[in-house]
Amino acid sequence: MTEPSGEAEPAQPDETAVEADPPRGGTVRRALRSPLLRWGAVALAVVVAAGGWWVWSQVEPIVSAVHASDVSYVVPDAPRLVARPGETVYRIDPTQSKVTYAVDEKIVGQSAGRASGSTQGIAGDLALNREAPSTSRVGEIVVDVAQLHSDNNLRDARIRQDFLESREQPLARFTGGAVAGLPASITEGQSYRFTIDGDLEAHGRTVPVSWTVDATLQPDRLEGSATTVVKMSDLGIGPISLAGLVSTGDDVTLTMDLVALDPSKGRVPDQIAAPVSTRASGSAPSFEHDVAPILAGNCASCHASGQVGSAHWQLDTAADAARISDGIATVTASGYMPPWPASDLGVPLAHSKKLSQQDIDTLVAWSRAGGPLDVADDTPVVATANPDAVQVRHDVTLEMTEPYAGSLGSPNDYRCFVLDPGFSQPTYVTGYEVTPGVREEIHHVQIFHISAEQAADGRTRSGADGSPGWSCYGSPSLSGRDPERPGGKLRGFTGQGGLIAGWVPGQDPSVYPDGSGILFQPGDALVLQVHYHYEHDPTPDRTTVALQTETGTAAVKPIDIINPLAPVEIPCMPGDTAPLCDRGAALADNVRLYGTTGALIETGLLRLCGQLPELMTAGFTGVASSTCDYEVPESGRIVAAMGHMHTLGKTFRLTLDPGTDRQQVLLDIPEWDFDWQMNYALETPLHVEKGQTIRMTCTWDRSIDPNRPSKYIVFAEGTEDEMCFSTYAIIPDG
Ligand code: HEC
Repeated sequence: MTEPSGEAEPAQPDETAVEADPPRGGTVRRALRSPLLRWGAVALAVVVAAGGWWVWSQVEPIVSAVHASDVSYVVPDAPRLVARPGETVYRIDPTQSKVTYAVDEKIVGQSAGRASGSTQGIAGDLALNREAPSTSRVGEIVVDVAQLHSDNNLRDARIRQDFLESREQPLARFTGGAVAGLPASITEGQSYRFTIDGDLEAHGRTVPVSWTVDATLQPDRLEGSATTVVKMSDLGIGPISLAGLVSTGDDVTLTMDLVALDPSKGRVPDQIAAPVSTRASGSAPSFEHDVAPILAGNCASCHASGQVGSAHWQLDTAADAARISDGIATVTASGYMPPWPASDLGVPLAHSKKLSQQDIDTLVAWSRAGGPLDVADDTPVVATANPDAVQVRHDVTLEMTEPYAGSLGSPNDYRCFVLDPGFSQPTYVTGYEVTPGVREEIHHVQIFHISAEQAADGRTRSGADGSPGWSCYGSPSLSGRDPERPGGKLRGFTGQGGLIAGWVPGQDPSVYPDGSGILFQPGDALVLQVHYHYEHDPTPDRTTVALQTETGTAAVKPIDIINPLAPVEIPCMPGDTAPLCDRGAALADNVRLYGTTGALIETGLLRLCGQLPELMTAGFTGVASSTCDYEVPESGRIVAAMGHMHTLGKTFRLTLDPGTDRQQVLLDIPEWDFDWQMNYALETPLHVEKGQTIRMTCTWDRSIDPNRPSKYIVFAEGTEDEMCFSTYAIIPDG
């Protein structure tokens, strides 16, 4: 990511500057911020909303929430009513009753559907007065939320986990029910429609609700069905709309199907059975021979305990897989896991993490059959080694000078550290190996090449807030010459350093392709940028980077990194009149935040790309786009490419020779995912000639993050700004 340096003279980027002096670098892998998982949020929202009537009171803290699949199917206790003159008390029979939630749900890559789940963990009394029905009473109704189950055991596990993590009792309640609309007397066998108004308590909030009830009095029982619609947002939750896996609507429909019995005429059941899976088992792929190898080869490197995905789903044994078999099918069929956002539209990419259709079919068939195991539950699932892994010599090993720990209060923590390789003569870096200190905290690592001046600035900034390193969301933001741009021509964009390497969990040591490398001058240094994501109190981390080097006189081919940029013009939603929705006011605010470059970069990019804000935003209803054409600055072989946007990003594409019969898509990302910004190495280097056109196109969608503050968004560095930015690596001819 490029970004304005506070010290940079306000200069406007111009075409020569952007193209004439490309920084030099190598392959980069990136994967940014990991917000809390959408499943969890969705499930929590669904539960809370569905549980309009659930109160959460304190119980003993339950710490081990991750394995939350052991639910006890016990009927909760509810206060009992005592009949007053003229009344008959009916008690809810949980074996014949259930509470159901239904919410519109859209899973990435699948058509929208309706998610629903139900529980029989329900208790409560009703007192009916047949001669004076309007005086009838509805006692407190208590529901056990942890028992909610749906057609997806991952969704269910999430519901339970989030409840247990909330350290509160998974009970909720409906109180103060007042009956209205009943006739003067009630006849057996006849159905009546009426309402019950009362309070739903959940998520620390109480919302009034009105149930529409259809009920019939039978000789031995009271039967009825009650329905209401609750807004999640009224309970302070959602609507869930995140860039990741799942989004839901705001309205949740709640239904209570109740049968209540007269306790004086016989015992009312107070026990329920655990739900039985209704799925047919039939012929399923073998776990041992078909399923386990897919999981070991594609999932365990990130999901084994202690690895980055283990807080979300821990995969150590066969039982861990069976527990969320439905979820494995959901996340793989949708393409959400393993993380690999690039589509097949572009040129073939190396080391693709995409599962083959055959593997997906196997996982789905196994899930449909109920996730059966043909091995013992505790059979280990261990990550298989990558047969293509390369060896990297550890010629220089660099370590953070001190261990660093952030805080659970800022679960997404981007931190930069200067690493000094101590080169006393020009040296090529030809390969690297990152060894994360605390694996489960590290979502990704990026490595920047910085100049001696920038290193000095970094050392000054390091520790200024009392902890090692400094906070950096995008790039290191250091002042001084970028090592790969000796002329500092693109002055508005200095401070970035050269993004030369990166690491995501599961990645093996890397060498730059085809005998190439990054040239370091004496005094040059590295910035290690770590994206920490904390699920627990942080353990201090000390990550190391080993470099494979050659002397600067060796026959190594230098790599150049080219950074096309495009302007960003994203207005507020139509009708939003907040002060910063005015473009001029927003630019002025950016100047206040970032100095003069806060406005000049956008102005320069508009000019560079020949665009006008009025044309870019005409007819805007939530989705914005930007495009910019560049000339390839030198002949050579493109070996890798990546895109960069922030969290409103929707799609990204790089196209060579657009609109000609030689057109070729270099990289296509149809569902931008801020969490998984990878650098993609091409399977076969693509030869390009100086002067060929390369077009970058970005789109953004405000509905991906509907809670962004009301502000007109332009190209800038902050989390609430956006970018349209790319990095591609060329090995120049000759
Ligand atoms: C490169 C690391 C990586 C690989 C490989 C990977 N995952 Fe994940 N997975 C994650 C991370 C990290 C998350 C948390 C969400 C996020 O950050 O995007 C996650 C989330 C999940 C979830 C959601 C769990 C929940 O919270 O409900 C499931 C299920 C999952 N992964 C299954 C798989 C399966 C199945 C595979 C293999 C086919 C796989 N993952 C491969 C890193 C990985």
